[in-house]
Amino acid sequence: MRVEIIGGATLYHGEALEVLQALMPGTADAVITDPPYSSGGAFRGDRALDTKAKYLSTGSGNHEKTSDFGGDNRDQRSFHFWSTLWSAAALRASKPGAPAAFFSDWRQLPVSSDYLQAGGWVWRGVVPWVKKSPRPQMGRFTSAAEYVVWGSAGPMPVDRGVGCLPGFYEYHAPTDREHVTQKPVALMADMVEICEPGGLVLDPFMGSGTTGVAALKLGRRFIGCEQSLQYFDIACRRIEEALESIFVERHELPEQLGLEG
Ligand SMILES: C[S@@+](CC[C@H](N)C(=O)[O-])C[C@H]1O[C@@H](n2cnc3c(N)ncnc32)[C@H](O)[C@@H]1O
Repeated sequence: MRVEIIGGATLYHGEALEVLQALMPGTADAVITDPPYSSGGAFRGDRALDTKAKYLSTGSGNHEKTSDFGGDNRDQRSFHFWSTLWSAAALRASKPGAPAAFFSDWRQLPVSSDYLQAGGWVWRGVVPWVKKSPRPQMGRFTSAAEYVVWGSAGPMPVDRGVGCLPGFYEYHAPTDREHVTQKPVALMADMVEICEPGGLVLDPFMGSGTTGVAALKLGRRFIGCEQSLQYFDIACRRIEEALESIFVERHELPEQLGLEG
């Protein structure tokens, strides 16, 4: 298994369950992840389509750099069973009281709160990500949101150094994506706020590494895993770039503010 350590981030190119089971129990202060949804389309056969066909709509930006990803074609029973396995393994890898935030679309929302709880987490709510400028649908309600089903590893102490967080977020979906289902960095930064300051964020399905970029920007440490080599390499590059920009910001700011020299 390839492992890259970039600043406070440890990135595994491998299978999520294998990595989660290999972590020391109680490693993570928060699990924040955007797993494969095994969703898409109105009919059962639609979920067997490639991810680009399922999740990218024409006119929603430049998707030339994206590639299909695997693990997204399970039927509903298998999806529930498999998601419960990794949800339980993520719980084992987390500290008591750690928050968990799992992304879902509207189709998989009911099963997402099921697998979160089946994995052993206490379910605490659903936080919508409302997409600005969604594609309008004639004669229908527009599908304008994805959802974050969240919970905690048992009772959740209030004195973790985390303030009051909003109940929903509004952002544009990224237009110039490198991953089919890439999330906005700003949205993931808001998610990372649920992790205690200086804590370790775990994302077993990091894709192009957006959670890791956000975690480092907010001064958290990060463990990520990705099974696609292409996306793993993109995640390594994006996290390296994030680290460089943090370094530059920290070293330029005093001069810009006239505080030095
Ligand atoms: C929904 S995407 C995450 C996208 C990410 N939030 C971003 O902004 O780039 C889910 C990722 O999980 C990866 N994946 C699917 N099954 C996996 C498995 N069993 N182990 C590790 N990674 C897996 C896919 O390759 C895909 O990149």
